[in-house]
Amino acid sequence: MNAQERYAAAPDAGGRGRHRDEAHRRDDERPADHVPVMLERCLDALAPRVDDWVVDCTFGAGGHTRALLARGARVLAIDQDPSALPYVAALNADLHTAGVAEPSERFRFAQGNFSDLARHVAEHDIDAVHGVLLDLGVSSMQLDQAERGFAFRHEGPLDMRMAGAGESAADVVNTWTMEALAAALHRYGEERHSRRIARAIEEARDEAPITTTARLVEVVTSAYPGGPRRDHPARRTFQALRIVVNDELGALERGLGAAADALDERGRLVVLSYHSLEDRIVKHTLRDRADLEPLTKRPVEASESEIAANPRARSAKMRTALKRASAGTTRHGVTS
Ligand SMILES: C[S@@+](CC[C@H](N)C(=O)[O-])C[C@H]1O[C@@H](n2cnc3c(N)ncnc32)[C@H](O)[C@@H]1O
Repeated sequence: MNAQERYAAAPDAGGRGRHRDEAHRRDDERPADHVPVMLERCLDALAPRVDDWVVDCTFGAGGHTRALLARGARVLAIDQDPSALPYVAALNADLHTAGVAEPSERFRFAQGNFSDLARHVAEHDIDAVHGVLLDLGVSSMQLDQAERGFAFRHEGPLDMRMAGAGESAADVVNTWTMEALAAALHRYGEERHSRRIARAIEEARDEAPITTTARLVEVVTSAYPGGPRRDHPARRTFQALRIVVNDELGALERGLGAAADALDERGRLVVLSYHSLEDRIVKHTLRDRADLEPLTKRPVEASESEIAANPRARSAKMRTALKRASAGTTRHGVTS
């Protein structure tokens, strides 16, 4: 058994820690133990050969990365959130324990935004990228730490910044105009009651700035019409704010473009999205770039048994594309 095979047998490819998506969890569900979503399907879609470089743009707790390494691929992992760092350290320690010679030849990590994928790849001297994976959304580290302010179920400061910089969710709710807030809730939360909620936020902040998740939940809940509902009333507001604060859709558009540009001929792009706004961008990009050949006409969804075991998988949609040979242009005529 060589070092790589020993590593493949040793680490827990399912990942460590827990990871859950509050945005897709109903009130009756307990947080699931961390299980990377559609793991086998992602691996089969990426189809890495031994020693191929795959860029895992969303390292999180490292579940997908570990499974890729176990298949013999080499991985450049990216994450903008420092909460991923302990998982990077744990993976490096496991590679070391497994006796992998030159672990940095198999696994590297770049802290930053996946929209800067080209720079990360260049800085790590990787000359051919055979696969790119994006598993969008938030990780358990982000949701479970109340002080990050992502979760409407935990009381904490209203922050939500994955990379810890820029405008926080509190800045947005306390300084944006009512119209801008309503537009954001409508657009990024697909919230039907966006104006009503935005007005309630405006009234509440006139009394005192809204600085905690709990106060925002209270304001949104009080503005929400009664009657039966499937979701927590604050779910869509929190989703919208998270998207705005982290420019998630802008980063996704830039990241998909950078991924397509970086891929070697016949390389694979695999994207897991968790709501319709993300999936629409993925679908259009894969369809509209002439250098990509979509391999999934319809998005692939998790099996019933996976959803039963891991509720986060319920809303996941996986799309895959192949980088065409000798491509270099988009359908809109831009030569790369
Ligand atoms: C759903 S988790 C990924 C989980 C991972 N696949 C696993 O198995 O543990 C998404 C991760 O992507 C990161 N992320 C989201 N948007 C990002 C961006 N634009 N650039 C870099 N990382 C991002 C988040 O910080 C989070 O850790």
